[in-house]
Amino acid sequence: VTSLRIQPQRTPLVGLVPVPSDKSILHRALLLAALSNGPCTIHASSFGDDNERTLTALRQLGVEVHVQEGREKTITIRGRGLFGLSAPKEPLDCGNSGTSMRLLAGLLAGQTFSSQLIGDASLSKRPMARIVAPLSARGARISGTTTETAKGTELCAPLTFQGDEEQPPLQALVYDLPMASAQVKSALLLSGLYAHGVTRLSEPYLSRDHTERMLQHLGVPLRGVGNTVDLDPAGWSGSLPGFELKVPGDVSAAAFMMAAGLLVPGSRIGCKNVGINRTRTGMVDALRLGGVTLKVTPHGESLGEPVAEMFVQHAAIKTIDLAGELLVRSIDEVPALAVVAAVAEGDSHIKDAHELRAKESDRIAAIARLLRAFGVACEEAPDGMRIHGQGDARLVGGVTADSEGDHRIAMAACLLALRGDTASTVTNVDCIGTSFPRFVGTLRALGAVIDVV
Ligand code: S3P
Repeated sequence: VTSLRIQPQRTPLVGLVPVPSDKSILHRALLLAALSNGPCTIHASSFGDDNERTLTALRQLGVEVHVQEGREKTITIRGRGLFGLSAPKEPLDCGNSGTSMRLLAGLLAGQTFSSQLIGDASLSKRPMARIVAPLSARGARISGTTTETAKGTELCAPLTFQGDEEQPPLQALVYDLPMASAQVKSALLLSGLYAHGVTRLSEPYLSRDHTERMLQHLGVPLRGVGNTVDLDPAGWSGSLPGFELKVPGDVSAAAFMMAAGLLVPGSRIGCKNVGINRTRTGMVDALRLGGVTLKVTPHGESLGEPVAEMFVQHAAIKTIDLAGELLVRSIDEVPALAVVAAVAEGDSHIKDAHELRAKESDRIAAIARLLRAFGVACEEAPDGMRIHGQGDARLVGGVTADSEGDHRIAMAACLLALRGDTASTVTNVDCIGTSFPRFVGTLRALGAVIDVV
């Protein structure tokens, strides 16, 4: 396992840097390319282990996937059609990737063969009843594994799917999601491609809608209104055309670069080709409400997904407050935003964030531990926390912080270390590779001094 030694940053971080391809969009593009009836080409800048897991799973399902390495990666996939996948010989290992597991679950629920999904220690403790229950309600035969977790007994992976040629097709499903979740929504929409009847979903707030946009672009009869979505396959050919897609950069990765710019006085940081789908940009709004001038310059669209250049200049921050729909639109950016809140002038409040306790780690607890390690006072609540901003003071240095195996906690720790008064160490950082393999190189390119130990 790797550790990073991070020097306090005393000079501004400056530069225009690339970010990896949007992880959420790439998962969906890979899955839909496999189900399409044509050759597909996907251009990605770079991507991490989570996307790699989806790609490998598709190969195990008989899909021909070719990745051409270069400065950018070009992925070509020969789509096999909705009913062209074949039974995998081994369990599909989703590693740390909740999105791989939950989206694949929706797809496997519609197959006439049996299969199994497994994951790493963290993923094997994450709740899966949220997909098993509604998929079962529409006729899928899935069994999970009852597991003791920190939150009590949960239905978790391994997930086993029973399928045979004689089984009846999946049925219509009208379902109100108990939480805003794009993974649950997407699993149900993917299974809806195989269903005889409508899939009608509603969520408390609209979660990221990449699946909806992509399906619509590929001619699937799907309609989203507010927090509801309706997929009615009646009259649909059942065929997805081949497509070409340049995947936008990941706004969730860009959030860490924006946060770095706000932590280090004098910094000016830009990110190229960032996806700015409104369901993902709560971070931009939260920073602006906190008094930051974040420049977002739109330049076009990619398969229904808007893209922009994003630029931040270091400035004083009042507070960072997240709740309700703003929280849902920045769910993965909370670790980055909490780091910004640590150097805000006032007290920041994060509310309605129960879901953060069910991510790659219990992120509320992990963020609170991390902030305290760097001398930032905070109070934890069941659904969030209050963070006492330290203003322009330097944070405590000489810290050894552990990632707890969570990529976003690891990156948040590295940023806090930049603001410390002496060098700090972040341990167990290999997990950063799940979403942002070039994170350290990108920070170094901006001027940070980081050693791998
Ligand atoms: C994702 C949805 C979100 C998010 C995750 C990626 C997706 O999870 O936190 O990183 O690509 O659909 P939930 O659906 O569990 O909220």
